[in-house]
Amino acid sequence: MTAQTAAAGTAAMPGVTTASTRSARRTFGVDVGGSGIKGGLVDLDTGELVGERTRIDTPQPATPHAVADVVATLVANFDWDGPVGITLPCVIKGGTARTAANVDPGWIGTDATALFGGVLAGRKITVVNDADAAGMAENCYGAGKDVDGVVVLLTFGTGIGSAVIQDGVLLPNTEFGHLEVDGKEAEHRAAASVKEEKDLSWKEWAPHVSLVLRRLEDLLWPDLFIVGGGVSRKADKWIPLLDNRTPVVAATLRNTAGIVGAALAVDTGVAP
Ligand code: BGC
Repeated sequence: MTAQTAAAGTAAMPGVTTASTRSARRTFGVDVGGSGIKGGLVDLDTGELVGERTRIDTPQPATPHAVADVVATLVANFDWDGPVGITLPCVIKGGTARTAANVDPGWIGTDATALFGGVLAGRKITVVNDADAAGMAENCYGAGKDVDGVVVLLTFGTGIGSAVIQDGVLLPNTEFGHLEVDGKEAEHRAAASVKEEKDLSWKEWAPHVSLVLRRLEDLLWPDLFIVGGGVSRKADKWIPLLDNRTPVVAATLRNTAGIVGAALAVDTGVAP
């Protein structure tokens, strides 16, 4: 059964909530990363993908128009004509990208909502920062679920993304990856890409992560750190090596957090 026919088959009496009407709360998320653009249909009741996740290589250079074309191709692979939430590794204000630290500089000043709206005509589009999306996904379905207080999620990849959430409410566009820590930008010190480029062992890399977390815990006094990105798959190798007073846990949604968070953002309509 296709996504559309599945949704059509779940019609029920207005106001009556059944298991089948609940499972109809679906929407589409796309996560634009430095090397891959990933998308999938998300069940918003469970935070799980309905069917496959699709990935297409990020075009190089990742200019706004090149990325928009890939996003359109990716969405067209699915039987879905509803709203689409999209992440970008940029500060997003009112649908416009304001920064482009690890992506083509042509994004700065691009009205991303209008751009994606152009290639996905007639649909509701919401564009959010990638780490904010991952943070909200972890908050709703993952390691941040039911956690009271201030939660800081950090994604370790090419750069470091951040999301700050208090009692379920996101403070958008925090950009702690660019905080100066001991004379160096946090993401130039402790991103996963630094570990890879310098061929650092977990033991060599972990103190840099600790230093970044220490700076953040002194400034924000969070109740929990959630660490995400590809390196969270190996969390048991490095979380025990951290020396911080705040509890640190691994993200649980792994490679779907951005997709799920993007879908959540377009569903709730909450966008910075
Ligand atoms: C960008 C952030 C982004 C993070 C992770 C940083 O360099 O400034 O906006 O969330 O990388 O992709």
